[in-house]
Amino acid sequence: MSTSASTSVKDKVVVVPGGTGNVGEGIVRAFLKAGATVVVPSRSQARLHALAKLLGPELAGNLKTVAAGYGTFDDADQLATRIVKEHGHVDHVVASVGGWWMGKALWQIDQDDWQKIFVDVATSHMALARSFIPRLTEDGSYTAIAGFSGKKPYPAAGIVSMQGAAQLMMREAFSAELDGQRRINDLVLGPIINRSRPGGDPSWLTADQVGEAAVGVARTPTIADEHIVLDTVEDLNKTLARMAG
Ligand SMILES: NC(=O)c1ccc[n+]([C@@H]2O[C@H](COP(=O)([O-])OP(=O)(O)OC[C@H]3O[C@@H](n4cnc5c(N)ncnc54)[C@H](OP(=O)(O)O)[C@@H]3O)[C@@H](O)[C@H]2O)c1
Repeated sequence: MSTSASTSVKDKVVVVPGGTGNVGEGIVRAFLKAGATVVVPSRSQARLHALAKLLGPELAGNLKTVAAGYGTFDDADQLATRIVKEHGHVDHVVASVGGWWMGKALWQIDQDDWQKIFVDVATSHMALARSFIPRLTEDGSYTAIAGFSGKKPYPAAGIVSMQGAAQLMMREAFSAELDGQRRINDLVLGPIINRSRPGGDPSWLTADQVGEAAVGVARTPTIADEHIVLDTVEDLNKTLARMAG
């Protein structure tokens, strides 16, 4: 792994699973603005079309969409194989998979809730990480997007917190096993201002600012094996200053 100062993501191949989502949109936009080729897989062709429309024709030129899921180990393996075949390699992955859910205490959830909110999301994160990390270029990086609820229980959203906590430990376990061979990090976000929630506390980050942080992580070879907590814009500014060295 290189230890030189900040690099460029121009012309790099960046895969953003979850790129169709509220936070993912900002991540995709930031990498496109920085000159990367961005590949977004989705279970829904309609959501891919909607993403391209949101980005606009100028930016969407370097957006490559793949109508395919990654909810099983086999599906994620096929996706990674296909993207490497089509683009030659993958430099960076930013996984922004899963979303918010609340409404039931843990003793009220049923098997379907558990499957959808814990099992399906945890399996997708694991499937993506195990398929893409071994295929990353040597100076590439893997970043998982996580939420504050993975560190702090949130009443009536316990399964989201449990999945988030499992995801944070998954990253730590990968870091321990990779032992510096590839860079892997997560961005632990507070509430995010996005297209579905266009207003909020002025201290909250926007989806585009999450994208700015994700590009910063990809560009900075010294950022490795970290939970990067981004609760507020002040956290973001400190993180960007640290990346600028
Ligand atoms: N929004 C916030 O304020 C906020 C705050 C803190 C943390 N976060 C974190 O940011 C990440 C993305 O959240 P978001 O708000 O952008 O969510 P979202 O708008 O619901 O988007 C979720 C994305 O995940 C993908 N996905 C793939 N498999 C999925 C599955 N089994 N279940 C649910 N989604 C699946 C979806 O892709 P398809 O196109 O295939 O549907 C979609 O692009 C999550 O890790 C979340 O914890 C968000």
